[in-house]
This record gives sequence, structure tokens and C-alpha cells, in this order.
Amino acid sequence: MEMDSDVRRYVGGRPRTREEAEKRFNGTLQAVKGNLNMWATILKSGVRYIGRCGIYPHFNNDGNPISGEASLGLYIAKEYWNKGFATEAGRAFIAFGFLKLGLHRIVTAIDTRNAASVKVVERLGMELTYTETGESRSFFHYAINRDRYYEFSKVEKSAF
Ligand SMILES: CC(C)(COP(=O)(O)OP(=O)(O)OC[C@H]1O[C@@H](n2cnc3c(N)ncnc32)[C@H](O)[C@@H]1OP(=O)(O)O)[C@@H](O)C(=O)NCCC(=O)NCCS
Repeated sequence: MEMDSDVRRYVGGRPRTREEAEKRFNGTLQAVKGNLNMWATILKSGVRYIGRCGIYPHFNNDGNPISGEASLGLYIAKEYWNKGFATEAGRAFIAFGFLKLGLHRIVTAIDTRNAASVKVVERLGMELTYTETGESRSFFHYAINRDRYYEFSKVEKSAF
């Protein structure tokens, strides 16, 4: 996945070598402990690793985690795109964050060109809070708070 330029297009921009990917996984991600972390996303039918998804600490500009908040991350291998897996994982992690962990806000930042990701997070009830315009990349910042989650999940449930 990390070597796939399509997967990496809007998340870092360039493929990672195996060595870079291992360094990254053995460093930054392992430093995050507990329930707020990225998890292997396994396709139950084939017991196959198809990505990594989760909610991880939302850090402020000083690099400290913001209490009661988390960031949503969704990464699915290209072979499995457009089958609803990111939506399924995102829905589960948002529910986990609000219902089990008692968070009050979940956020995510998306490269403005990443239309598939925008579609997924809007379907999950997240709302655009602001757009950050950069020289080489720009980001949509999305968020959902606990009150909206309860309202949104009620509406969502009644639609099925
Ligand atoms: C973004 C990503 C997580 C979506 O995963 P996924 O499992 O394919 O998502 P889903 O199948 O749940 O939903 C994707 C939706 O986007 C739509 N879509 C796909 N490509 C699109 C595009 N170029 N423009 C508009 N919509 C698009 C799909 O049709 C689908 O909508 P539908 O169910 O109404 O048909 C996946 O593409 C990915 O891992 N990309 C690389 C990493 C990444 O960018 N992660 C997001 C970081 S913010």
C-alpha cells in the first residue's frame, strides 16, 4: 500500500519505499498507545489485510493531544476501493469514539483534490469547518461533534 502511488497521491504525495514505511510504522505510529490508534483493517471473508483505519490523537500546534478529541484516518488498498469499506470502518470508528471512548469531537483533514475521501466523510456526517490553502497542497478540515453524531445517527438509522 505504501508503495502504491495512487494510495499515496493525496496523503504525502509520493510512494514510500519499504524501508521508509517500516521506519514510519516502527516510529511515529507505535508511539501512540491505547485505543486511539490506527488498526489493521481485515477483510473477514479472506482474513486479508486490506488497509489501516482508526481514530488517533488530535494534536494541537504544539504537538500535544487535545483532550476529548481524535482524528479519523482511513487507508484502503487500491484493489478494495469503492466497495464501501472506508465508509464501514469510518462509521464504526466514529461510533467507537463517541459511544465507547466518550469523545466530544472527531476531526479529519483531507487534501482538497481527494474527492473519494470527501464523499466518505460527508456520508459519515462530518461537516466542513474550514479550508486551509497552501502553496503546494490545500486541505479541507472536517469535524463532527457528539451532539451532531447523535442527531445524525438517528436520521441515518431511520433511513434504513
Ligand atoms: C479515500 C479512501 C479511504 C476511500 O475508501 P473506499 O473504501 O474506496 O471508500 P468507499 O467505498 O466507502 O466510498 C468511496 C466513495 O467515493 C466515490 N468515489 C471514488 N472515487 C471518486 C472520485 N474520483 N470522485 C468522486 N467520488 C469518488 C465512490 O464512488 C464511493 O461513493 P459511492 O459509494 O456513493 O459510490 C480510499 O480511496 C483510500 O484509501 N485512498 C488512499 C488513502 C487516502 O487518500 N485516504 C484518505 C486520507 S484523508
